[in-house]
Amino acid sequence: YGTQEVNEKGHLTIGGVDSVDLVNTYGTPLIAYDIALFRERARAFKETFRAEGIQAQVAYASKAFSSIAIYEVAQQEGLSLDVVSGGELYTAVQAGFPRERIHFHGNNKSEAELEYAFAEKVGCIVVDNFSEIELIKRISAMRKQEMDVLIRVTPGVEAHTHNYITTGQEDSKFGFDLKNGQADEAFYRLHNVEYIRVLGMHCHIGSQIFETTAFRFAAEALMNKMIMWRDEYNFICRVLNLGGGFGIRYTEEDAPLAPAKYVEEMASVVLSMTRQHQYPMPEIWIEPGRSLVGDAGTTLYRLGSMKEVPEIRTYVAVDGGMSDNIRPALYGAEYTAVTANRMDEPQTTEVTIAGKCCESGDKLIEQALIARPQEDDIIATFCTGAYSYSMASNYNRLPRPAVVFVEDGMHQLVIRRETYEDITRLDIPLQAVKRGDT
Ligand code: LLP
Repeated sequence: YGTQEVNEKGHLTIGGVDSVDLVNTYGTPLIAYDIALFRERARAFKETFRAEGIQAQVAYASKAFSSIAIYEVAQQEGLSLDVVSGGELYTAVQAGFPRERIHFHGNNKSEAELEYAFAEKVGCIVVDNFSEIELIKRISAMRKQEMDVLIRVTPGVEAHTHNYITTGQEDSKFGFDLKNGQADEAFYRLHNVEYIRVLGMHCHIGSQIFETTAFRFAAEALMNKMIMWRDEYNFICRVLNLGGGFGIRYTEEDAPLAPAKYVEEMASVVLSMTRQHQYPMPEIWIEPGRSLVGDAGTTLYRLGSMKEVPEIRTYVAVDGGMSDNIRPALYGAEYTAVTANRMDEPQTTEVTIAGKCCESGDKLIEQALIARPQEDDIIATFCTGAYSYSMASNYNRLPRPAVVFVEDGMHQLVIRRETYEDITRLDIPLQAVKRGDT
């Protein structure tokens, strides 16, 4: 999992840094990102497009992990950025991210969020629904400001890991249905509108996908629609955004494809269809989140209490849990763990790693294999870079962990650990009672 190795002390190292040193410096729980891996993944996507000779944008889907520092790295790597809220946009602005490479997503963007996106002159807005069309028309007309848009459609293919289903109509809260005329109606209402420029189409078919058929299917469905719009309205889409969803390896059973493979497959569909229909080759945009940050992240916990349930299992509890990684509780997501401070011992004792939240379901790993557990051990869970910190909460008023970036033996704190003061900073103590009408 990533670039973890073991040093002469028998300690897990992450990006060339001893995990025990990290914990001694920053405390636990700690999420450590090996940033070299993030860069490697980003370059692999970009390089594949380059090798295929295809104009492309690789946008980091920052819902997977949003922070000023990761946006800075994304910028260094020449990535674009997918943001889905005013908060993510604000973070990108704080990071000084080039606005023209920010793509603004969301199925219920508020007027204030859209105004903000216009004020910051983001690269494009991915239009999701008819209410948003009206809002964007109004805002652009009022501001007399141009805006590029992509039309988000649901192509009737839904993919998860090994399976995908294709349906006539997709039951999704996102986007315009491709097959029942909604997408055509959206296009009709947007094109030839002053200040609005339709750049092209967008779809996102799922997450943690291990096969390419669903992507090929989606690419084909969108291309067909683009060809129809050309024939009917003489309109050419310059951009085809096929979203993210490329799978990563959480456990031994997971067998994702190399980033290049996904890109090559979707590109081959687009290349062959453009040739066949003499359609100008569009730029292909993708939006990987998990596959850029997922395996770059490792969470380090301190082992505390233990409890044996005879003949059933041994619980070992760590000093975090569903508050910093809700994915096991929410999705039944599986992870792999090790005892980071004793890697030279056999990691063969089966335990259930529980969190410290007051909830029975707060188990991080049901059947983990670690060294014979001892209090104060450091437990590392791998591949926690995506959708763990970004979905973290203060449940039980646990402070959220610190986040550190490591790279080539160097480390740097990028999100400080929450304090008890942070925990109560929004609270307002009771005040003298006021009448409702004053
Ligand atoms: N683009 C769009 C429009 C999306 O909705 C998503 C993810 C992505 C890109 C990035 O997908 P990725 O490459 O990361 O699979 N919380 C869930 C995952 C939710 C994904 C939501 N959309 C989890 O922890 O598994």
